[in-house]
Amino acid sequence: MINNLIKVLPKTELHLHIEGSLEPELMMELATKNGISLPYETVDEVRQAYQFDNLQSFLDLYYLGAASLVTEDDFYQLMWRYLVRCKEQNIVHCEVMFDPQTHTQRGIEFEVFMEGFVRAIDQAKSEWGQSCYLIMSFLRHLSEQHALETLAAAQPYLSQITAVGLDSSELGNPPEKFARVFAAAKRAGLKTTAHAGEEGPPDYIWQALDILEVDRIDHGVRSIEDSILMQRLAEDKITLTVCPLSNIKLCVFDDMQQHTIMDMLRQGARVMVNSDDPSYFGGYLNENYLQLHETFDLSVDDLSLLVKNSFHGSFLPDSEIQHWLSQVDQVIDNH
Ligand code: HPA
Ligand code: ZN
Repeated sequence: MINNLIKVLPKTELHLHIEGSLEPELMMELATKNGISLPYETVDEVRQAYQFDNLQSFLDLYYLGAASLVTEDDFYQLMWRYLVRCKEQNIVHCEVMFDPQTHTQRGIEFEVFMEGFVRAIDQAKSEWGQSCYLIMSFLRHLSEQHALETLAAAQPYLSQITAVGLDSSELGNPPEKFARVFAAAKRAGLKTTAHAGEEGPPDYIWQALDILEVDRIDHGVRSIEDSILMQRLAEDKITLTVCPLSNIKLCVFDDMQQHTIMDMLRQGARVMVNSDDPSYFGGYLNENYLQLHETFDLSVDDLSLLVKNSFHGSFLPDSEIQHWLSQVDQVIDNH
């Protein structure tokens, strides 16, 4: 019963890297078309390589795969396929991260990927009313200067971008390294989010809140180690975009039984569920909810709270959030 409710409920996804939705089939197809050499001969070999010890071992593969994306149409195909998944999974609104530096560093111009993304988003909006915002993420293993230059290059596209984010290798690259670029993004009217407390310590979450002054935190699962931080998150209603399957694949927790998402929910943190890099981590959004249910036997109230948190945490205008919250209640009542 819950399994079916998971599928039919309207949901949002707020933590999804579009480059992490690149399925091995499309990766191989585009690499062949573009004459990019990959260290794999078949789709099965690509899938077999998806065994990770930590965040960095995943990122090495993720950047390798992203190199197969070259033309405007490649980026369109990538975004289009994810948006079709949204339709199939009743993800009525998504906030999608993209990493410009992953592409500009390979000599791909901003306009190439932006035009591909926007073409797919416009088409999905006109075909079935899909709502999709874009989050431009800075790579934290690169310098703040590089991030500032990326923000400047994004200037002509800012009307298409809702927020900035911070991703890539967390340990050794604390949020404070990006204080100036986040301040500049806020001055430009952008919302903000940052990966913090995936592998990094609770101090990185404090820095994201107090130095970057982010609107929400991506992952944030290590906040449970700091009870004062947990209080702060609850009091300020900070959304944590938690990614259960990602955390297992990257060995943040040994297995789903060890995952602390339900403890965090019980302690009043505004946690919600996401897929992060679904092609690499073994499932899209519904598969994340389904695995949580399999492990923690979610009640209807648990599921309702997680899904409502996903709308509360979004950058949608209040009127749209209210609309979707009442739709959630209606679907649950009718179930
Ligand atoms: N963490 C950090 N950087 C990333 C991730 C992640 O889960 N996915 C893609 N880039
Ligand atoms: Zn992520």
